[in-house]
Amino acid sequence: MVRIGGVTKANFHQRIVAPSLLAAEFSRIGEEVARAVTAGADWLHLDVMDGHFVDNISFGPAVVQVVNQNSEVFLDTHLMISRPDHYLQRFIDAGADLITVHVEADHDVAKTLRRIRDAGLQAGLALNPATLIEKAVPFFDQIDLLLCMTVVPGFGGQAFMSDVLEKISAAAAIRAQGGHHFHIEVDGGIDATTAAACAAAGANVMVAGSSTFRAMDMAAAVRAIREA
Ligand code: DX5
Ligand code: ZN
Repeated sequence: MVRIGGVTKANFHQRIVAPSLLAAEFSRIGEEVARAVTAGADWLHLDVMDGHFVDNISFGPAVVQVVNQNSEVFLDTHLMISRPDHYLQRFIDAGADLITVHVEADHDVAKTLRRIRDAGLQAGLALNPATLIEKAVPFFDQIDLLLCMTVVPGFGGQAFMSDVLEKISAAAAIRAQGGHHFHIEVDGGIDATTAAACAAAGANVMVAGSSTFRAMDMAAAVRAIREA
């Protein structure tokens, strides 16, 4: 990241590997965070689910705060919640570094993105697999990251949806044409094989839960995704 005229510019050529804490062993959360960092994680991906926006409940700001207090790692916080505007301040206060909200959620998207940046954080916008890229384009100057979900969000361990590759390519093309600056992140079913396909399409931030935390050798798994 570099700051130009007060605006954060993403280095979207840099590969970033973000293990998802959802696949960690929750009874040893502190050790699991340390294990990810030791294994070479660039960011830690935190999946927040409210039981409304998705059919699952994970964890909230208290867990984000504990992770923040126990580690220096960059916290990439993915809010799969219906009212990100209502809960936003709590995640800012908890120490998130980047907050991603869904375009499909029930809020004024432009206003929420502005609030995230005004708080000094990086702002991300997420699209479910079925959501067209056109829904995100109006916000391309307001984001540091575009998350193209590669599974229907809610659960770890699902199969990668290769249809999304086309949307990633379209996003990268529109970004280049418009001179926008944001990372393209993928999340769901990512391992070294699918990461290579996503990178070829234009993604640079790879979220991976099962394939990293549940690997025999987490460092090797992170390295394989980085080098894919
Ligand atoms: C899906 C979550 C993902 C999930 C990825 O709802 O947003 O971050 O943890 O898990 P894997 O890598 O196991 O598909
Ligand atoms: Zn996620």
